[in-house]
Amino acid sequence: MKISPQPGMGVIAEGFVPGSDVDVRTLKQAAYRHRIVIVKEQHLDPAGLLEFGRRLGTPQLYYEPIYHHPDVPEVFVSSNVSTGGRQLGVPKTGQFWHSDYQFMPRPFDLTIISPRQVPRERRGTLFIDLVEAYRRLDPELARVASETVAIHTPRRKFKIRPDDVYRPIGDVLAEIDTRTPPVRQPTVLRHPRTGEQVLYVTEGATETIEDSAGRPRPDLLEQLLSATGQLDPADEHPVIHLQKFDVGDLLIWDNIALAHRSLHNPTAEPAESWRITVYDDEPVTAL
Ligand SMILES: [Fe+2]
Repeated sequence: MKISPQPGMGVIAEGFVPGSDVDVRTLKQAAYRHRIVIVKEQHLDPAGLLEFGRRLGTPQLYYEPIYHHPDVPEVFVSSNVSTGGRQLGVPKTGQFWHSDYQFMPRPFDLTIISPRQVPRERRGTLFIDLVEAYRRLDPELARVASETVAIHTPRRKFKIRPDDVYRPIGDVLAEIDTRTPPVRQPTVLRHPRTGEQVLYVTEGATETIEDSAGRPRPDLLEQLLSATGQLDPADEHPVIHLQKFDVGDLLIWDNIALAHRSLHNPTAEPAESWRITVYDDEPVTAL
């Protein structure tokens, strides 16, 4: 297998041999070292994608069933395609800065994406390396941030499900708060695999920041989001990386070190991707 750097961030892996433990280990190391790995020429069916996820960690079932693939529920489907009037998965997912499961007590370690249909225009996913973003902060702002706690919730971005139509909004919000109560994490999180410091705040999931006395600091949250490019409407901030991909690519990324956001395509062009997310409980020394 050949690993080569790509412009901006991440690496490209060519000639991956699925049965090779050495190759799987190399992909995993590359995901943590370089954040993004594009594995070329991988045409997997849902069961194959799940199997690939099992090589990297423990695949997780998403807590909301409307996203599940009908044949392999661990496969999360993002799609604007409906066949015979039936919608597969959920359209327009993740069009805001977040990391996957950031609102849960334990976010996923690795995200794996298999693009199935890729639009011609406005394609790809935007990324921000939150380790690099923390390094670039003004030292005083970094110090203040490191003494605070960030609170994450899916409240603002929760997608109304078909069965929610005609339900009182207050009931839906109460259900969200019961199933996924706000999660507190250090604003500057120690990466569980690499030990690096991650500025773990995103525009989509972080509701507020509290200082050591428990006082909300919306001003600080805004400063951090702005410094990390998450409030840039043009996505031109220097830390933002646009990752393009094609059908047949398999993307693997470090879900804790990176914030991501999918590009919104306003056209009716079909777009579909399958996702597997894993927890990685392998001993860190093994890497
Ligand atoms: Fe996502």
